[in-house]
Amino acid sequence: MDKRLLSFLIIGVVFLCLATLSQSESEDEDDGVVVTEEQDPVIEDVSYRSPTPSGSVYFAEHFDDTQQFKKKWVLSEAKKDDIDDDIAKYDGKWEVEAPQNNGLSGDFGLVLKSKAKHAAISARLDRPFKFTVKPLIVQYEVTLQEGQECGGAYLKLLSHGKQTADLRQFHDKTPYTIMFGPDKCGNDHKLHFIFRHKNPLNGTFSEKHCKKPKDRVEEPFKDKLPHLFTLHVRPDNTFTVKLDHQVINEGNLLDDFTPPVNPSPEIDDPEDKKPAEWDEREKIPDPEARKPDDWDEDAPAMVPDATATKPDSWLEDEPDMIPDPNAEKPDDWDSYLDGDWEAPLIPNPLCESAPGCGPWKPPQINNPAYKGKWHAPLIDNPNYKGKWKPRRIPNPYFFEDKNPFRMTDIAAVGLELWSMSNMILFDNIIITDDQSVADAWAAETFDLKRRKLDKEGESLFSRLVTYTNEQPWLWAVYIIVIGLPIVLVLVFCCGSSSQEKEEQRRVAEAKKTDAVSPDDDVDEDDDASQQAPVNTDSNSQLETQQEEEGAGEEEEAEASGGEVDAEEPKTEEAVSEAGGAPRSPKKHTSRKE
Ligand SMILES: *[C@@H]1O[C@H](CO)[C@@H](O)[C@H](O)[C@H]1NC(C)=O
Repeated sequence: MDKRLLSFLIIGVVFLCLATLSQSESEDEDDGVVVTEEQDPVIEDVSYRSPTPSGSVYFAEHFDDTQQFKKKWVLSEAKKDDIDDDIAKYDGKWEVEAPQNNGLSGDFGLVLKSKAKHAAISARLDRPFKFTVKPLIVQYEVTLQEGQECGGAYLKLLSHGKQTADLRQFHDKTPYTIMFGPDKCGNDHKLHFIFRHKNPLNGTFSEKHCKKPKDRVEEPFKDKLPHLFTLHVRPDNTFTVKLDHQVINEGNLLDDFTPPVNPSPEIDDPEDKKPAEWDEREKIPDPEARKPDDWDEDAPAMVPDATATKPDSWLEDEPDMIPDPNAEKPDDWDSYLDGDWEAPLIPNPLCESAPGCGPWKPPQINNPAYKGKWHAPLIDNPNYKGKWKPRRIPNPYFFEDKNPFRMTDIAAVGLELWSMSNMILFDNIIITDDQSVADAWAAETFDLKRRKLDKEGESLFSRLVTYTNEQPWLWAVYIIVIGLPIVLVLVFCCGSSSQEKEEQRRVAEAKKTDAVSPDDDVDEDDDASQQAPVNTDSNSQLETQQEEEGAGEEEEAEASGGEVDAEEPKTEEAVSEAGGAPRSPKKHTSRKE
């Protein structure tokens, strides 16, 4: 009874504290509320005007001018080779339109409308970007308006040359200089930065993949908000990758890419073979050792126990099984058809009380004379030469490119994508050699968008506070909604409360078969029942938690097509095997199925 009273007291105090807290809170916020009202609680529209880039710009596109867009951008009419004709066409739909949610008025973006289709579109730069003494800055916005299940939203900076002379022929094998941007499938979140490096010896190109960012980039794939991707590559071969103005990856073209730009100066000599007499055995059987004369390899592992004797009461003449003396021949037994009737066998009841029936055999025991096959002991091999390694020779294909920054000129920017989630919105693409130009461009576009979104979030909160102060009873609702669970958690976790005991007592009582007057032995019941129901409760809490965790795992596994672990090298492999496209078309179609 005392405990119960104490618990009520505690709850009372907690409520009082919360009430006081809320009171002082509302007083504090009175000032704030006035200010908010002055500011006008209605969302002030962030006014947007299509930006005009100033400074050194190679390409800038805000997608707000449909006429301009139509002049500048070229839809691919190509077909992907090496896949079936019906899915080989780039027939994905693109549309210039306003964002689905919270757009700035007058701001449009390029939206990939179709899912599970190949889509390709590109536009020529105002002038080619040449990798000389100025850095390359590529920046653009992506809003995965429907999230992303599986698919890319990266840019390809197409290489200058014959294959980009006609952008209507843009397809997955069209040579690019840099590929940059987000890509995801299942649980594999990527932010690509791939460049194609020209081998100075024979002129072939190979893809170099940037190391992964330190932290997983997940938010842009699920929050459905605009995100700004920036790549900055400098003539000193350093690079920086930024997400929403924050540096998330940086390094050097020479050190942070796989495979490395420069091959190893030495390689294993392919001509060098292990000599036949090369002895790699560290230990050998001692050639001096002889099998001892008394070593009997044929001695059996088990022998009958010679010391065992037949127990006196062993019934040697009794069979284990006897015909059931109580069985009777069924009336409808037809000896002609069914043969002679025999009673079914049952275990001999005499054997049950005796140590055994039937012929007695001594039990088998381990043979003390058993030695098994003789082996010579191992000794150090006097001829051991160590593990054989081929001789190292200078790499005949060695080269050293100290300036991988000097990539192929960029002629155009392209989107060549396949996605399981549609409504991917691209916006505000800029290619410049001056970070301040990119920053200014973002200030007039992306930063405004995010400010508007933040304001909306903010004003929602401040409006809530204002409203609540006008309707103070709402504080009580908050206290109950927020405070009560806390109190309950405290009560359940930090020892038993009176209500709980009451509950336990009832549970315990319900289990009893003989009804006892409830007040008879309250204390006894309290003590006795204290453990079981409490445990039951925490167990069920644990179970719910585990179920939830389990469900989460399942979801993840599902999202990644059940390959939570095996995803990494797979996509990497897909990137190289596609020879330009980060995913092979076959992979895509199989995912579709
Ligand atoms: C060029 O050199 C690279 C690296 O040694 C090699 O892998 C590639 O096969 C060569 N290509 C041609 C066409 O010789």
